[in-house]
Amino acid sequence: MRILSGIQPSGALHLGNYFGMMKPAIELQTQGEAYYFIANYHSMTSLFDPAQRRQHQMDVALDFLACGLDPARAVFFKQSDVPEVTELTWILSTVTPLGLLERCHSYKDKKARLAGDDLDRVNHGLLAYPVLMAADILIYDSNIVPVGRDQKQHLEVTRDIAVKFNLQYGETFVIPEPMIRDAVAVVPGTDGQKMSKSYGNTIEIFGDEKVLRKKVMSIVMDSRTPQEPKPDADQNLAIQTLRLVAPPEVARDCEDRLRAGGLGYGDLKKALFGHYWDYFAEARRRRAELAANPDYVRDILCQGARRARALATTVLQRAKVASGLD
Ligand code: ADP
Ligand code: TRP
Repeated sequence: MRILSGIQPSGALHLGNYFGMMKPAIELQTQGEAYYFIANYHSMTSLFDPAQRRQHQMDVALDFLACGLDPARAVFFKQSDVPEVTELTWILSTVTPLGLLERCHSYKDKKARLAGDDLDRVNHGLLAYPVLMAADILIYDSNIVPVGRDQKQHLEVTRDIAVKFNLQYGETFVIPEPMIRDAVAVVPGTDGQKMSKSYGNTIEIFGDEKVLRKKVMSIVMDSRTPQEPKPDADQNLAIQTLRLVAPPEVARDCEDRLRAGGLGYGDLKKALFGHYWDYFAEARRRRAELAANPDYVRDILCQGARRARALATTVLQRAKVASGLD
């Protein structure tokens, strides 16, 4: 079974990314042949600063490796190191109905957001984004694609494109199955909305201790006194986060004390910070070690690209033969 997923290099890893995407992906690496890549071509549709892209690429690589991606198990690479994927994108685009792309929520949302701002930023790449994603998936004969709910429609487009190509030119591509991570709850941000870079409510995994402590202490609470019993303790934002980073009995104990009255929010958040800091201590140590050795990280990505490219070349050739390009 081949498992494939990609992540855009788009900024510092936060608790939502970690529990929603990275941790499940890392756990899956033992379940089959995992291919994980840094979607830097995709990032070009909305990020235009080369230095930032370079930095984010390295950051994602460090984050993934520090959090437990095992390069001996998973093939880990940069999307653009397998340029065959862009060739397949063109081939696939010729069997992709335009209407299919125009109906994508993610495209419509981005277009609506940019429309009032700068229409020139509604570039062709934003529309073609799902075709590149289909090529990413199909070029490795992927069976399973673990993604968040927001990517579900893109997976449906991939399947549509694969079926269309197979109908037109004969059985060529494996039809992939999405694995939607519904089981992973949405991690709330410091303000109670979904944690997201776009909302400015994130708690990062790596970074300066003082800054991160301040973020944890800024988690929004109500104005009830410590003594007041809180029957809604299970909804408390700090408790929800504590459940992710502390042993279950610790989270339960805090929740009980909150419900009974007596535990103040300040103390609760201090305890949360301690557990959060400890939870990522090992990853933090590994990341510092890796960051001091960027050549080692580049080497892993290079070796990953070599393996990915060998497979991609075979599948692309299959598509070229099927469509008479050989
Ligand atoms: P952001 O919203 O911060 O820009 P992205 O959209 O880049 O994050 O998400 C990258 C990955 O992390 C996706 O797979 C997404 O499903 C997951 N993710 C992001 N935020 C959360 C969250 N608050 N809870 C759970 N998963 C999340
Ligand atoms: N579009 C995905 C995201 O923003 C990243 C991605 C690109 C991807 N290509 C992929 C995910 C292929 C899974 C498979 O999260």
